Amino acid sequence: MKIAVVYSSITGNTNEVANIIHQFFKNEIDNVQLYQIDQFPISQINHFDAIVIGTYTWGDGEIPQEMKTIYQAFEDQESKKIVTGVFGTGDRFYPHFCGAVNDFRDMLYVHSNLAATLKIELSPQLQDIERCQRLVKSVMKRIHEASRSKVLI
Ligand SMILES: Cc1cc2nc3c(=O)[nH]c(=O)nc-3n(C[C@H](O)[C@H](O)[C@H](O)COP(=O)(O)O)c2cc1C
Repeated sequence: MKIAVVYSSITGNTNEVANIIHQFFKNEIDNVQLYQIDQFPISQINHFDAIVIGTYTWGDGEIPQEMKTIYQAFEDQESKKIVTGVFGTGDRFYPHFCGAVNDFRDMLYVHSNLAATLKIELSPQLQDIERCQRLVKSVMKRIHEASRSKVLI
């Protein structure tokens, strides 16, 4: 089983969440890698059983420029067998809170096997740690369900 947590972060909030999520995955399996978006081998998305994407939101509720390639990669190919999750940080001061997470969620729901979504206000607080754990549990559960249904086929 191979899992990637892929994220982008400027001021560190999404980075913090990505580290928490990565740590929870490490408690479950050995083969989980944490990638900043510019380090991630996008041409190999089909080599992963699960990809969990982390993004902040920019502009007027928009996906950051550097996250557009992975968005496009999922949109352009049939990745229904890849289990996905999306998380992000945003600021409720803006009208479209975590708009980039919403955009990823809507696209991944159609183009992948989306298991979980998580939005966090700025820097993760104590109660957010449990939410991160729930995201990881949901992704793991979906991977196991997907592999069981493969056996049945
Ligand atoms: C110019 C600018 C535009 C932003 N636009 C939004 C937005 O539309 N919606 C939102 O929820 N947050 C918005 N934010 C807040 C960031 O997404 C938030 O601070 C986030 O936690 C930053 O993530 P990072 O620390 O991982 O870089 C904006 C921030 C800046 C500086």
